[in-house]
Amino acid sequence: MAAVLVSTTVNGDAVEYSCAPRESLLDVLRNRLGLTGSKEGCGTGDCGACSVIVDGRLVCACLMLGAEMDGRTVETVEGLADGATLHPLQTKFLEHAALQCGVCTPGFLMASKALLARNANPTEEEIRFALAGNLCRCTGYDKIVRAVSAAAAELAHPAKSGTGKKTGGKKAAGGKATGKKKG
Ligand code: FES
Ligand code: FES
Repeated sequence: MAAVLVSTTVNGDAVEYSCAPRESLLDVLRNRLGLTGSKEGCGTGDCGACSVIVDGRLVCACLMLGAEMDGRTVETVEGLADGATLHPLQTKFLEHAALQCGVCTPGFLMASKALLARNANPTEEEIRFALAGNLCRCTGYDKIVRAVSAAAAELAHPAKSGTGKKTGGKKAAGGKATGKKKG
């Protein structure tokens, strides 16, 4: 079948790629664009490890087609950090030890980012509800919920808790090495 040419925006950068008509957005991100932060846990929309934001909405990249992204805006975990400066969600996930193997972490980070974009001060119940589609097999959810709550506080009052933690060239929580700005 003929390849589809797609022009889209990924993490602020204009991107063009060609893909097979039935190729998932997750496969395009990982295999064609080299954005391997998004993970495949199930491939069937059940685990949330592939969560990305498309046109401001949280979606499972495994359930969308790369061909559907023409003219749209895609945000992945690689776009969370600002150069070497971690996003407060990443900082708080690290501080609260809200990850172990890290496979689920990119999805949790993107689901949390989508939550905080629409609700800057979520209750614990609202955080748990928003993250209900993301599964973690090793950390347990309490630390993740506390990290998201702390990130919300940090974003609301950045001066108090000190944002701007540098990665020092190490991997950001849930993302790739953050030595360069992703846009
Ligand atoms: S890999 Fe997409 S929801 Fe599990
Ligand atoms: S940290 Fe391992 S699955 Fe969540």
